[in-house]
Amino acid sequence: MRNLDENTITDAVLARHEHVGNARLTEIAGSLVRHLHAFAREVNLTESEWEQGIRFLTDVGHMTDEKRQEFILLSDTLGLSTLVVAMANRKPAGCTEATVFGPFFVEGAPEYENGADVANGATGVPCFVSGKIRGLYGEPVPNARIEVWQADADGLYDVQYPDDGEHRGRGVLHSRADGSYHFRSIVGEPYPIPHDGPVGRMLDALGRHPWRPAHLHFMITAPGYERLVTHVFREGDPYLDSDAVFGVRSSLIAPWLQHEAGVAPDGTRMATPFYTLEFDFVLNRAAL
Ligand code: BEZ
Ligand code: FE
Repeated sequence: MRNLDENTITDAVLARHEHVGNARLTEIAGSLVRHLHAFAREVNLTESEWEQGIRFLTDVGHMTDEKRQEFILLSDTLGLSTLVVAMANRKPAGCTEATVFGPFFVEGAPEYENGADVANGATGVPCFVSGKIRGLYGEPVPNARIEVWQADADGLYDVQYPDDGEHRGRGVLHSRADGSYHFRSIVGEPYPIPHDGPVGRMLDALGRHPWRPAHLHFMITAPGYERLVTHVFREGDPYLDSDAVFGVRSSLIAPWLQHEAGVAPDGTRMATPFYTLEFDFVLNRAAL
């Protein structure tokens, strides 16, 4: 194949992939090439703009390491993560909706009993969280594995601090025989996604802010049910309609109720004001 020009280059690349043994790879690579070429044609991409794009992606790569996943931030802020999550989670009405995973999950969070304080020293106003895990037909789901993670009062996750070997504001617990769970933590606050890198510069250039509304992350797994990765958002948060990563769903917004000092739902005597949050999760049955 020689003398390729702007009209023939796309088909020439696609023809090179015809004999790949993997049909799905051919489909994905082919579609990517077609859309990339269509994009360059549509905007009449110049050489210097192409170079700028390459520099941007290079910076995204350089910014990425074990603690900082700039590619996930890029996917999240471009809405690609929400699109993929939405397509992968077409659940029956009544199931708790899924939302983006985000870059701050870590493996190996400590296991706690119900009632424990998963803040483990993370700063913030105390919050008592409780609810039930159920299946779509209302059945309680006992022994579901509930993993929770959240930012502290300064909007930072434990992994954003120098590593001291402690997990703060994250943990794993299991639902009881009646599907109920409860734990103590802290009130989530709105926070900006990390924006001191290329994705932050991109948001700036596009006149966008980096803020996420206050939320708690949950990942719930139980045999016979689909894994649920979701958040609970704080009702009234100013960023609910402009989440930097497009993750808010109305069904995931709940009131975080403020209480004066006194007795908390688990009987703890609180000398300072505290919050409570109640949220039930409905899991979809796993495909057989
Ligand atoms: C998060 O909620 O932890 C998050 C999600 C997407 C990008 C950055 C942070
Ligand atoms: Fe978060």
